[in-house]
Amino acid sequence: MRQAGRYLPEYRRVREGVSFLEMIRDVERSVTVTLQPVDLLGVEAAILFSDIFTPIPGLGVEVDFRPGPVVAHPLRSRDDVRALRVEDPRKTVPFVFEIVRRLRAALAGPEIPLLGFAGAPFTLAAYLVEGAGSRSFSQAKRLLHREPEVMRELLELLTAMTVDYLEAQIEAGAEAVQLFDTWAGLLSREEYREWALPAHAEIARRVARTGAPLILYVNDGAHVVDLMLESGAPVLSLDWRCDVGAAARLAGPRASLQGNLDPCALSAPSAEIARRVRAIAEAARPARGHVLNLGHGCLPDTPVEGVRAFVEAAKALGANA
Ligand code: CP3
Repeated sequence: MRQAGRYLPEYRRVREGVSFLEMIRDVERSVTVTLQPVDLLGVEAAILFSDIFTPIPGLGVEVDFRPGPVVAHPLRSRDDVRALRVEDPRKTVPFVFEIVRRLRAALAGPEIPLLGFAGAPFTLAAYLVEGAGSRSFSQAKRLLHREPEVMRELLELLTAMTVDYLEAQIEAGAEAVQLFDTWAGLLSREEYREWALPAHAEIARRVARTGAPLILYVNDGAHVVDLMLESGAPVLSLDWRCDVGAAARLAGPRASLQGNLDPCALSAPSAEIARRVRAIAEAARPARGHVLNLGHGCLPDTPVEGVRAFVEAAKALGANA
């Protein structure tokens, strides 16, 4: 969950003088900022520094970040979708796998697991159709209602791209991969079943063959936890709104959970952060396992001291288990 980023002065220093687009293509800088949270905060796993939009230019789509992803020519028709090309990500975005290989080597000594990641097809489609972030993604939802077959074609193409992209990260040394469906929470249960679940299930099935665990995150997805389980993903990552106890009872021995402290709660005093961490771990007990994490990424105004208190509280739990 956004371990690196603008809340860390050390990140801001490395980011100085380069655009975000340059930053994610810069092997040296990306390796440095991925390792910063391990060295500075003592986290017990590292997540590749990149973005869910990194592989999108490989489809032939022009992308910029201001600061979220912005698409020069949003997709609106069947012809727009048919013009996209799915090529081998090892050829279109080779720097990603170079970063993963370098990180794997750097993290082998301290035995820190490295997570790769990708955006889920529905979230990528939402940005590609809308053109940029939005509160309601009404253009994307309009396409889904007016021309469902065009949306389906786009989602199938993005599913194929995402499978290739995650497999290539695993091959380069990622030990687990997380799939971020940031906007699937905008869907009703019925819509989630139709527009998000098929991609989650296909990606879970293909990643399972590699042996690397897939962690499925649906932002604002408390209403679809039982459907997320149907995807077959072995780990479900919960946002901070989700009741961990209820999700853990649904998951039981079928899946592990990850999450879910509100990143804003990192502004609380350390003792309060520790109390909340213990409460989350306790609530997660009925699930097969639990990876303590935040319920979303750190924000630019997240206090570093709060992140440190969170990491210490998490490690104290491990010591007492
Ligand atoms: O923890 C890490 O360091 C991993 C790297 C990571 C980034 N983005 C780097 C980033 C990850 C896992 C992401 C995922 C991502 N990106 C998601 C899914 C998770 C989520 O937040 O819901 C989404 C929707 C995006 C798209 C995106 N990228 C947005 C909306 C923004 C701007 C606003 C924001 O949240 O910061 C970005 C830019 C971005 N991606 C930054 C970072 C560190 C900030 C860029 C900067 O330095 O200016």
